[in-house]
Amino acid sequence: MNYLKIFSPATVANVSCGFDSMGFAVDAIGDEMTFTKTVEKGVKIISITGADLTYDVDKNAASAVVQKILQAAKADFGIELTIHKGFSPGSGLGSSAASAAGAAFGVNKFLDSKYSDLELTKFAMFGEEVACGSEIADNVAAAIYGGFVLVRSYDPLEIVKLPVPEQLRVVAIHPQIAIKTKDAREVLPTNIPLKDAITQWANVGGLVSGLFTNNYQLISNSLVDVIVEPARKSLIPFFDDVKNSAIQAGALGAGISGSGPTIFALCQGDKSAEKVYKAIEETYKNTQINFEMFISKVNQEGMKILE
Ligand code: HSE
Repeated sequence: MNYLKIFSPATVANVSCGFDSMGFAVDAIGDEMTFTKTVEKGVKIISITGADLTYDVDKNAASAVVQKILQAAKADFGIELTIHKGFSPGSGLGSSAASAAGAAFGVNKFLDSKYSDLELTKFAMFGEEVACGSEIADNVAAAIYGGFVLVRSYDPLEIVKLPVPEQLRVVAIHPQIAIKTKDAREVLPTNIPLKDAITQWANVGGLVSGLFTNNYQLISNSLVDVIVEPARKSLIPFFDDVKNSAIQAGALGAGISGSGPTIFALCQGDKSAEKVYKAIEETYKNTQINFEMFISKVNQEGMKILE
C-alpha cells in the first residue's frame, strides 16, 4: 500500500458530567487526511486546507504523531501528509484530536495495523500534548473507537466503549469565536467540594447506565455538570440562553462541547433534534455573533477509510 485517504470525525468530549473521561464521535463533520508512503524516512506536510495550522512537523499535532509512530516502529519509510480540516481549531469539537487520532490510525495501516486501538490512543494523546499541552484522551479515544467512550483510567490507560442508543441525536452550535483548550483549562478549580464530586460521579454512573439500557430519561437526568460548566460558561457568549432554549424545546440535556465554545444538545429522535435546532438557531440569531450549526447521529465506527 502506498496511499490512503481517511475521514477522522469531530468529537464531543466531557458530555457534561464526564470531564476528561467521556466523549463521543460525531457523524456529520470531521477532517480528511491523506497519507503517501515515501522512500525517504520522516514526515512531510504537503498541504493543509480549511484552517491555518503550522507546517512545522514537530509542532503540528498530526505530523508529530506520525513521526512518533514511525520512530517507535523503526519504520524504513516515510510519510507525506495532506490535511483538510472540515471544522475549525478552537471550536471544542476535538480539532487537534481529529488530526492526532487520524494520523495515528492512518500511519498504522502502513504498518500492517501493528498497533491496537489502545496503543493508537496513546500515540494520539501525544498529539494532544503537542497541540494543547495536556495528554487528554477523551476526544482522541472517541475518534479512534467511535461511538461513546469512557476513559476508565489514565494510568494505565483503559478505554471502555459504550453502546449508543439508536435514537440519540446531537445538535450543536459553534459560535464563531475560538477558545484555546489550554486557556479553558486554566479557569478550572483545582479543588472541588465533596458534595460536587458526589453529584458528578453519580451522574457519570447514571449516564453510562442510561446508554446501556436505552433509558433516555436517565440520560437526561444525568447530563449535569456542577464542576466544569460553571467555571467555563462565562467564556461562551449566551451559553445559558442556548442551554435553556434547547431544554425548553425538548432536548435531553445540553452542555459545553469539550472546552467550548461549541454547545451541544442531546436529543431523542430526529423530530426532537429538528425542534431543538430551530430553538437554538432562533436564540442565537438575535445575537451579533456569527455561528454554524449541525445535527448529527453519533458516529458508531470512528475512522473511515475513503480511498
Ligand atoms: N476534556 C478536555 C477539556 C477536552 O474539556 O479540556 C478538550 O477538548
